[in-house]
Amino acid sequence: MKRCHHLCSLLPLWFSLVILFLNSHISNGDNVTYDHRALVINGVRRVLISGSIHYPRSTPEMWPDLIQKAKDGGLDIVETYIFWNLHEPVRGQYEFEGRKDLVKFVKTIAAAGLYVHLRIGPYACAEWNYGGFPVWLHFIPGIKFRTDNEPFKTEMQRFTAKIVDLMKQENLYASQGGPIILSQIENEYGNIDAAYGSAAQRYIKWAASMAVSLDTGVPWVMCQQSDAPDPIINTCNGFYCDQFSPNSNNKPKMWTENWPGWFLSFGGAVPYRPVQDIAFAVARFFQRGGTFQNYYMYHGGTNFGRTTGGPFVATSYDYDAPIDEYGLLNQPKWGHLRDLHKVIKKCEPALVATDPAYTSLGQNLEAHVYKTSSGACAAFLANINTQDATVKFNGNTYQLPGWSVSILPDCKNVAYNTAQINSQETTSEMRYLSSISEGTEQPLSKLSSSGWSYVKEPIGISKADAFTRNGLVEQINTTADASDYLWYSISVNIRGDEPYLVSGAQTLLHVESLGHVLRAFVNGRLVGGRTGSASNVKVSLSQLIILDRGKNTIDLLSATVGLQNYGAFFDLWGAGVTGPVTLSANGVTLDLSSYQWTYQIGLKGEDLSLFVNSDDSDSLWVSDSTLPMNEPLVWYKTQFEAPAGNNPVAIDFTGMGKGEAWINGQSIGRFWPTYTAPSDGCSSSCSYKGAYSSSKCLKNCGKPSQQLYHVPRSFLQEGANTMVLFEEIGGDPTKISFATKKTGSLCAHVSEMHPPQVNSVAYPEMTVSIQKPGPLVHLTCPGPDQIINEIKFASFGNPQGTCGSYSHGECSSTDALTVVEQACVGTNSCSVAVSIKAFGDPCKGVTKSLAIEATCSS
Ligand SMILES: *[C@@H]1O[C@H](CO)[C@@H](O)[C@H](O)[C@H]1NC(C)=O
Ligand SMILES: *[C@@H]1O[C@H](CO)[C@@H](O)[C@H](O)[C@H]1NC(C)=O
Repeated sequence: MKRCHHLCSLLPLWFSLVILFLNSHISNGDNVTYDHRALVINGVRRVLISGSIHYPRSTPEMWPDLIQKAKDGGLDIVETYIFWNLHEPVRGQYEFEGRKDLVKFVKTIAAAGLYVHLRIGPYACAEWNYGGFPVWLHFIPGIKFRTDNEPFKTEMQRFTAKIVDLMKQENLYASQGGPIILSQIENEYGNIDAAYGSAAQRYIKWAASMAVSLDTGVPWVMCQQSDAPDPIINTCNGFYCDQFSPNSNNKPKMWTENWPGWFLSFGGAVPYRPVQDIAFAVARFFQRGGTFQNYYMYHGGTNFGRTTGGPFVATSYDYDAPIDEYGLLNQPKWGHLRDLHKVIKKCEPALVATDPAYTSLGQNLEAHVYKTSSGACAAFLANINTQDATVKFNGNTYQLPGWSVSILPDCKNVAYNTAQINSQETTSEMRYLSSISEGTEQPLSKLSSSGWSYVKEPIGISKADAFTRNGLVEQINTTADASDYLWYSISVNIRGDEPYLVSGAQTLLHVESLGHVLRAFVNGRLVGGRTGSASNVKVSLSQLIILDRGKNTIDLLSATVGLQNYGAFFDLWGAGVTGPVTLSANGVTLDLSSYQWTYQIGLKGEDLSLFVNSDDSDSLWVSDSTLPMNEPLVWYKTQFEAPAGNNPVAIDFTGMGKGEAWINGQSIGRFWPTYTAPSDGCSSSCSYKGAYSSSKCLKNCGKPSQQLYHVPRSFLQEGANTMVLFEEIGGDPTKISFATKKTGSLCAHVSEMHPPQVNSVAYPEMTVSIQKPGPLVHLTCPGPDQIINEIKFASFGNPQGTCGSYSHGECSSTDALTVVEQACVGTNSCSVAVSIKAFGDPCKGVTKSLAIEATCSS
């Protein structure tokens, strides 16, 4: 009795502990659902800002900083694709370490307090090699990609389940208390599904139910899939998505890819997108009912190794994203969008509560108002014309610059206008260090060189595993993408009495190839080459050659530059010399296409792993004074010390032709500084007004598409570092130089009338009236330990020019420099009011502005 009494008295406590534990376990997980207006997390509709950062396009050492910068930029979510061919290079052999450490990446995002959108695909596109598919998939008997095909569906389901299980094991879904609130299945299939006929619908229904059956506890999306079956949400990708609506009134309006720039191709100019237009597109989307948008990319990064697709996608995947390839803020883009996110978040209660009510304010002038019964009100006023306009709204007058949206989080005061940048701008500076073999003067760090050694890659067949075939073979089927390179070799015997081949006379060699790059060698000498382009990957070579009496060897080196990643049946495009290959002379043609050819997959130096520092291959390297220059097919090696400091590092490959580079055994990607952008198609300035397209704003015409190549700091070590290059065309490695990148000047240029408004201005973090004291200019050094050490320029009046080259106008306050110096020098961050109160009035009756250029200590 007593014992029982004792135990019984404890039982209720014990029960309540169990219940407490169970409760806390359940409430650890987030319940993510959706409705017509928004994603719903734990019963609350949310406005969510997301950005893409692809884990293998940076390094684990860079992830925390990139993610923190994403959070500081106002993001709620980090989105990434999953790259199947990265994780399963050989069927059944999975790799998840280093840059492939998906779990670590997701946990790093969680540690920063952000959510994750996992786009599993497993088709990724992403300008990634073969769209992310492993090439071994192509060799499964009977397989047809991305359609109602059993072998394909089996593999797709197996890999998708593998990723979902991995995430579940680590409790990474929101339903388990983790950060993943959303997943994607397939990717942009609706763009091309017509080519797959009626099987496409069956496939998409299967993909939807397969995904749902994996029971992640969070919603799935399909992008660009207007017939996405319930409960999958169909979402929009594009430069603008305000006109999009989902296929059901029970689904929210979501934008999975807002492109803040565009990718770079070798042979192309560098695309960029003005931030005023991106902000306009985002504001329009939220104005017209959107509640989720993702920047593709927020940090683009680098295509290391042979991971680029295209073909011809460059090694840099900078994308003109808010965080640049090197991890530095791309200003004013990052800051202007951060300011936008803050204002949109202020509107969140009204945005999620209701659909917007639309009123026309004139031609192409639109007001949308979100108003709740509890009194929350947010308004968006848009001017879709390119000319400025004045509109009346709720009895007040508003100036709307052309192609802009003003956001009024209280339906009265303009807190933000997309065309008016209040955020600081920065220039970035590439600081060149010594050329690594010249070992030149300081302050160029301790870069030094042990000189260069080299290995000549044999021309033609040199490997024991070479083989013969009758006729010409397709390259991807043959190499399975084990290398960029495939040799096609044939011997032609000239007796001297042939009617069509006369020894010593000129013969026309003609070669047709599916691409991407072709080099022709006759009797060991390079006789010609052709390079495809992103818009036409095929190459055709017609070259006059001289054949000798007796045996002649024709060696054709075909190279791929990233496998196709987009389009219907992209997997079947093929590459390499599929013919015809002919020799012609005296009007007679000899077709060699069906003759016996000898093939070699890859390079001898690849087989020997010359790019890895090892004792085995050490003896192969030649160090003598006759370093081969401007010769095709040479491996080069040198040692150097890493540039001092922590600033990101780049290599300038000027002087080299085309090839691949390794630092301490890690590939930093293909280099190709000799492939230049067309000389036309760029303009000195590009208006943000009017609809954007990927070819609208281009720079770098006539220059190398990519000259600088990122070397992540974590690839470098103290003391000696080894660089190995394979040069395909011919180059001079002694011209290579290093650079480090840092933020140069901080700049701001703000008008006293900014933003245009009648009464008062609600800024993200303050409320000020327009004249007293006027808008504030904020300057903040990029690093927390840095201080503003110099005001290089300050002018209040009508200064002109752009960051780095401001000049005084005819109206200019004499106090400007002193006022700004007093406010800013010696501080990490400062604010200066743009007003005559602070600066005096140098020209009465004229609208004035303040321009500042400052530098921070390093
Ligand atoms: C999750 O939320 C939805 C709607 O907000 C609700 O219907 C559902 O019961 C919730 N599920 C759980 C497990 O709490
Ligand atoms: C590759 O091989 C497959 C199977 O042998 C064949 O069907 C296909 O046409 C080949 N692809 C190309 C591009 O030649």
